[in-house]
Amino acid sequence: MGIASVPVLSAFARDVAEGLSASVKKLSPQYLYDDLGSALFEAITLLPEYGLTRADERLIARHARAIIDAGDFETICELGSGSGRKTRHILEAAGRDAVYHPIDVSDAALATCKRELGTLARVEAVHADWVDGLRTIRRKRSEAPLLLLFLGSSIGNLDRAEIIPFLTTVRTTLRPGDCFLIGFDLVKDVDRMLEAYDDATGVTAAFNLNLLGRMNRELQADFDLRSFTHEARWNADARRIEMHLVSSRAQRVWVGALESEFLFEAGETIWTESSHKFLRDELAGLARGAGFKELNIWIDSEWPFAEALWRAE
Ligand code: AVI
Repeated sequence: MGIASVPVLSAFARDVAEGLSASVKKLSPQYLYDDLGSALFEAITLLPEYGLTRADERLIARHARAIIDAGDFETICELGSGSGRKTRHILEAAGRDAVYHPIDVSDAALATCKRELGTLARVEAVHADWVDGLRTIRRKRSEAPLLLLFLGSSIGNLDRAEIIPFLTTVRTTLRPGDCFLIGFDLVKDVDRMLEAYDDATGVTAAFNLNLLGRMNRELQADFDLRSFTHEARWNADARRIEMHLVSSRAQRVWVGALESEFLFEAGETIWTESSHKFLRDELAGLARGAGFKELNIWIDSEWPFAEALWRAE
């Protein structure tokens, strides 16, 4: 075969090849967020069962002034901004001179940020994943202190072992005096957590199943979405909710872009997301472990959720 005819696989295709060949089938949660997945996630944030986003927004709205007063910030960056709805409160407190860099992999989400927040700050969107987004921040920033936002407990979607290394990477991107506002969803009643990830309306199920639809659309796969079901599990030892797609029968799935077939037994799952939950008492250790000083922490009284403000030391 000549070099010209070797197909170049996208990162998505390569990760699907690896994830579906593993003994426990697993895909990275980042792939849940194509434009349809991002829209479904926005719908999740409105569900009565999913109190996380409302708690996050209540805390930000209430403490925006204290957050902004922690430094003389010129630049505000947000990793995984989505539509940037919660950030409005921070930009309002910052005033019109701020430059806001929302960082996201969804063009639709970035377009919403520009449309909704463009009157509050100069919005310069960055289409990138978290790690590339951090590299971009390093290039684009000014000398003045920077405020980095990582809201909504997105940190919980990393594997536990990745959390301190990721926070350390964040720290090395920042300069002493920069601040980092990070949200952590806290452990709560198990039924409440399970309902949040398996809502009665079926929006979270659609969000999860869309990953199969995305493989059909982008990788020419032939997943039958009706023969998989969404499942949310609480793993008490690891303190996380796991999302799975359960194959309801034995089946074979063809992925055209990989020219490969994958076999599923009845009941076998694809593990599509972990959402780790945190204990209040572990947060100061996470800050210290990554080279930050905890300046403040606010906890919502309706939905146990912590907003932590850290300063790079
Ligand atoms: C984005 N992330 C923090 C959400 C979470 O709660 O882990 C994603 C999500 N998955 C299902 N529902 C919401």
